[in-house]
Amino acid sequence: MRKTLLGSVCAALGLLLGPIAAHAQAEIDHAKAAKEFEKFRAEMEDSNPAELNELRGEELWHAKRGPKNVSLAESCDLGLGIGKLEGAYVQMPRYFQDADAVMDAERRIVWCMVEKQGFKFEDIAKKPFQGPNDTSAPDITNLVMYVAGLSRGKPFAVDLKHPKVREVYELGKEVAQYRAGPFDFACNTCHGAEGKRIRMQDLPKISTKEGAAKAVLGWPAWRMTGGVALTMQWRMNDCFRQQRFPEPKYASDTITALLTYLTANANGVIYKGPGIKR
Ligand code: HEC
Repeated sequence: MRKTLLGSVCAALGLLLGPIAAHAQAEIDHAKAAKEFEKFRAEMEDSNPAELNELRGEELWHAKRGPKNVSLAESCDLGLGIGKLEGAYVQMPRYFQDADAVMDAERRIVWCMVEKQGFKFEDIAKKPFQGPNDTSAPDITNLVMYVAGLSRGKPFAVDLKHPKVREVYELGKEVAQYRAGPFDFACNTCHGAEGKRIRMQDLPKISTKEGAAKAVLGWPAWRMTGGVALTMQWRMNDCFRQQRFPEPKYASDTITALLTYLTANANGVIYKGPGIKR
């Protein structure tokens, strides 16, 4: 397993840094294939399987659950007040006074499950993401899907005027530039320039509004590879893996910092709800 991973990262490196004598024909072929794929993906989006996750999330949100037998609907404030979910997703990460922390949507919902419903963090963190062999997504993914869906059509609006949010944003910016690991990669090694690509994947330049928009739009997502529902937290973890960094702890400060950086860079862009990724 390790070997294959290493192999693919090396292959990726080759593609990235290898001779930019990128043959014109290959470029054209790529553009064609990418366009075809994009058409297919966009068609799929009309009947996104993630809608099922949203529905399941809605049930979970309203159900009395956990050792305290409380629903999130009656106890969880996502920043706009208890019971107010519309537009909450696009305004996170945000600062939450009750937790004295800046939190992204997934982390906030986990916080509510622990603090309000009495679930144990360790139990949620044991398996926070859907794996390729799992027939269904974890509750937390479905909850994020539901909450995200209620921000469809609203612009990203992370409050950078808030000093604590600003601080976390700056931290995220640093993390994105921080080089380390066996290959001395930073996020920006792969995501720091226009037009970079690994295999068929376009790598968005996350420091620009346009690139950040590509990075945050369509998440959480139903992923065609494996047919699984995944959140932005998963995306970050997987890129740390690509970077050959140790994977951060679930719902950690580092991830919130990166998500603050990415989302705020996309401020003003209209969110389209859970999407489909290849
Ligand atoms: C070795 C190169 C590499 C590094 C380093 C890397 N990524 Fe990625 N990243 C990728 C690839 C490849 C994809 C597309 C993967 C896919 O779709 O399967 C991707 C996808 C993404 C996406 C989703 C884009 C979309 O269109 O949905 C985001 C956001 C992202 N990376 C952020 C980061 C952040 C933040 C870091 C640093 C912690 C990072 N990446 C480090 C290669 C990298």
